Amino acid sequence: QVASLAERYESAFDIGAAVEPYQLNGRQGKILKHHYNSIVAENAMKPISLQPQEGQWDWEGADKIVEFARKNDMNLRFHTLVWHNQVPDWFFLDENGNPMVDEIDAEKRDANKALLLERMKTHIQTVVERYKDDVDSWDVVNEVIDDNGGLRNSPWYQITGTDYIKVAFETARKYAGEEAKLYINDYNTEVPSKRDDLHNLVSQLLDQGVPIDGVGHQAHIQIDWPSIEETRESFEMFTELGLDNQVTELDVSLYGWPPDNAYETYDDIPAEDFERQAVRYDQLFELYEELEADISSVTFWGIADNHTWLDDRAEQYSGVGIDAPFLFDENYRVKPAFWKVID
Ligand code: G3I
Repeated sequence: QVASLAERYESAFDIGAAVEPYQLNGRQGKILKHHYNSIVAENAMKPISLQPQEGQWDWEGADKIVEFARKNDMNLRFHTLVWHNQVPDWFFLDENGNPMVDEIDAEKRDANKALLLERMKTHIQTVVERYKDDVDSWDVVNEVIDDNGGLRNSPWYQITGTDYIKVAFETARKYAGEEAKLYINDYNTEVPSKRDDLHNLVSQLLDQGVPIDGVGHQAHIQIDWPSIEETRESFEMFTELGLDNQVTELDVSLYGWPPDNAYETYDDIPAEDFERQAVRYDQLFELYEELEADISSVTFWGIADNHTWLDDRAEQYSGVGIDAPFLFDENYRVKPAFWKVID
C-alpha cells in the first residue's frame, strides 16, 4: 500500500476528488478511501440532476455520494446550488411557457424576476435541508464572472441582475446555518483581469453583508500556465478580504489552449510530458503548503486519467480524446506527479 495523499496533507488541508456515483465501488472506491478525505459530485448534485422538472426531485446519485462520505468519514463539498450550465430550462420559462429573458413589458419583467428568485430559493432550501448535516462546503454560485470582463450575461443575470447571487447566499445561510461554509466558485481566478472582477464583486457583496466564507478556485490549469506567482496572488487577494480559499477542481492538462495537438492514444504520451507535469505539481503543492493557513481544501476534478472531462475537450479540438491530468494513470498506477506531491 503506497503512502496516502490525505495523510500526507492531514495537518494542512483536505484532499478531495470529484466523483460520479458509479466510481464509488471497486478499484476507484479503494483509491478514494485510501488517498482522499473529501469528495464532491462531478455532476450528480447540479440542478439538472436534482430537479430536472419543477418539483420532481431525483436524489439517487447524490444520495449515494452522501452515503459514501458518511460511511468513510469524509468531508463533502456540494457542487453546485446555482450555475448557468446544467440548469434545466424550466427555471427560465414564465407561467405561459415563454422565455423570461424575452419579456419587454416592465411589470411582467418584475413578475418574472420574482418567480425566478422564488424557484431558486425553493431549490436551495430543499437541497440544503436534505444535506446540511453532511455537507461541509457549498458552492453556492458557480462561474458568475465573464471571461471578457464584468458579470456573466447568463439568464440569471439578465432576469435578476446581481440579486440572484445575493439571494442565493442568503438562502443558503438561512437553511444551512452559521457553521456551513459558503463559496463563490470560478475558473481562471489566476488571470489578473478576471480575478480583479471577482475581487470587486466579492468586496461589494461583503460590504452589503452577503454571507460569503470563501472563494473556490477551480484550477483547470496547464503545465506552463498560469504562473505560480499569479496563482499565489489570487489566493492572497482573497485572504486579505478575510476569506478562505479552496482549490476545487484541480487538473493539469498536458495541452495548451486550444488543445488541438492531442496525442492519439495514452501510450503515445512521452515520458517527458509526465516529468514536466510532475514538476508542475511539485511547485503547486509547495505553494499550497506554504499557504496552508489560507487554503482549507484541495480537490482534484477526478481520480485517475481514465476519466476526465478534459478528454471531451481534447476530442472537441483535436478529434482524439486523450488527456492525462491527474496523479494516477489510466490503470490507476501512480505517476511521477504522485511522488512529487507526496514528497
Ligand atoms: O448524463 C448524460 C447522458 O445521459 C447522455 O447520454 C450523455 C450524452 O452526451 O451526456 C450525459 O451528460 C453529460 C454529463 O457530463 C454527465 O456525463 C454531458 O453531456 C456533459 O456535458 C457533462 O459534462 C460535464 C460538464 O461539467 C458540463 O458542463 C463534465 O462531466 C463535468 O466534469 C464538468 O464539470 C465542470 C464543473 O461543473 C464546473 N467547472 C468546470 C468543469 C469542467 O467543465
